[in-house]
Amino acid sequence: MTTLTVTTTPAASVAADWLVIGVARTPNGPVPAPGAATDAAFDGELPTLLTAFGATGAPGETLRLPGPAGTTGPLVLAVGLGPAPADREGYDAEALRRAAGEAARTLAGAGRIALALPTGTAEAVEAVALGALLGSYTFTAYVTTHPTPPVREVSVLVDDDLRTDAEAAVRRARVLAQEVNRARDLVNTPANDLYPESFAAAVVAAGQEHDVAVQVLDEHALAAGGHGGILGVGQGSARPPRLVRIAHTHPRATTTLAFVGKGITYDSGGISLKPVGANEIMKRDMSGAAAVLAAVLAAARLDLAVNVTGWLALAENMPSGSALRPGDVLRMYGGRTVEVLNTDAEGRLVLADALVRAAEERPDAIVDVATLTAAIRFGLGDHVFAVMGDDDTFRDRVLAAARDAGERAWPMPLPEELRGSLDSRVADIANYGARMGGGLVAGLFLREFVPAGTPWAHLDIAGPAFNEGGPHGHTPSGGTGCAVRTLVRLAAGAATGERPGPPATAVPATGTGGAAGVHPVPPLGDAHPARGTEDR
Ligand code: BES
Ligand code: MN
Ligand code: ZN
Repeated sequence: MTTLTVTTTPAASVAADWLVIGVARTPNGPVPAPGAATDAAFDGELPTLLTAFGATGAPGETLRLPGPAGTTGPLVLAVGLGPAPADREGYDAEALRRAAGEAARTLAGAGRIALALPTGTAEAVEAVALGALLGSYTFTAYVTTHPTPPVREVSVLVDDDLRTDAEAAVRRARVLAQEVNRARDLVNTPANDLYPESFAAAVVAAGQEHDVAVQVLDEHALAAGGHGGILGVGQGSARPPRLVRIAHTHPRATTTLAFVGKGITYDSGGISLKPVGANEIMKRDMSGAAAVLAAVLAAARLDLAVNVTGWLALAENMPSGSALRPGDVLRMYGGRTVEVLNTDAEGRLVLADALVRAAEERPDAIVDVATLTAAIRFGLGDHVFAVMGDDDTFRDRVLAAARDAGERAWPMPLPEELRGSLDSRVADIANYGARMGGGLVAGLFLREFVPAGTPWAHLDIAGPAFNEGGPHGHTPSGGTGCAVRTLVRLAAGAATGERPGPPATAVPATGTGGAAGVHPVPPLGDAHPARGTEDR
């Protein structure tokens, strides 16, 4: 993996193969973004040079430029940062991440690159470092030729007075990048090597390495506990299912979050088999579980003062003589029954067991993450994930976490009108309902398995979890590590006193529910609001 360090050497004298500078867009043309005295390195010639080479400052733009006249120093790569902000500290963190990622990716094969980007604050340093490390990711585990190696070494140039803060920021970025890249590796690993048992073994190994507690329920333990959803989905496969619990606990934690991930290591559709064209990249269907694992490990490694429990519902959805049949009725963990009308709607079945199980421990909030429906991809495309929930305050908190982390997310409703489409003639509920609004119907199904009063959000990451196209910014082709940064940001917020639930003090009704900021955030240590104990 690429190593990354901080240096206070000015751009003019840094030893590197490439010097990376930022270019911002203004109405009057491209301007060099501030960064480690790059102007001095170029004797004031940089604006002329940028214009001569046709730079525009557009995001994603990269231009190779000659070094300053008369020098034998590094070659120069100019990366676009988008519109110039009003002040030098105003660069958007995600724009910095993407530009740094673009640079690291473009310069793959290079030895040492120096990033002279606008790093006026620790937050900006963290963004540049994270973007560079995410952008240099490659998945070569199955390539036996000699692929271009990632950039060997990245130096982030910072001002002297920021050194200590910058080093701490880089340590955080390193952990986060390693965990996002762990999720990517898991998603990219094909299903012949990554199946429930091997996935669980990888969690156990990671837990040991980072001193995080892991419990694995195998098929026998799942049967003994009555986990009909996970067992039902897994029964058609030669690879038996698993439920994995991984927990980060902190002595000063006042909040416990539960993250639940869909971990279908391969989704063929089962007896409701997917057609050719829809099943080639179904190794991706464990992206939610991968994100949950990575987020819990990141929370532990960053020592966040919050308890975070991850639940990974792992199964392989296959057709066979022992497979679940359309029309079968499953008895889920907790006792409720589900008529399986479509075996391809399997994610909600494994999640139902895991949600009930997670809720038993009375967390302050539950977030599930899943590549749940094709329908949501038609609505939101492949760059934006959906956030649903029955508690507007908590849903908006998750959306704010996504925004702060630089991930694109959008709220989707849970319309009561669609709930009736899941009514079953023989069981408590069916796993298949209205086709129109299928992503919302899936959310309504999951809601049935969350106890009333527990703040809950459902993330449908079916689009952005896997990039079927070419790489861009810090996003590679293949597994993207979608939702890891959002979950970690949510945990970090909880660690600093953001309460997940409705405020303990009564607030006046706002009619249609709270927009972000309507409810005041109670101070750290407030009593939890009374919680309903019955399922709805
Ligand atoms: N894993 C799929 C959803 C999916 C499709 C994720 C494409 C990523 C890319 C899920 O299990 C599924 O098959 N959903 C069905 C549900 C339907 C049968 C109710 C769907 O969306 O078509
Ligand atoms: Mn499916
Ligand atoms: Zn699936």
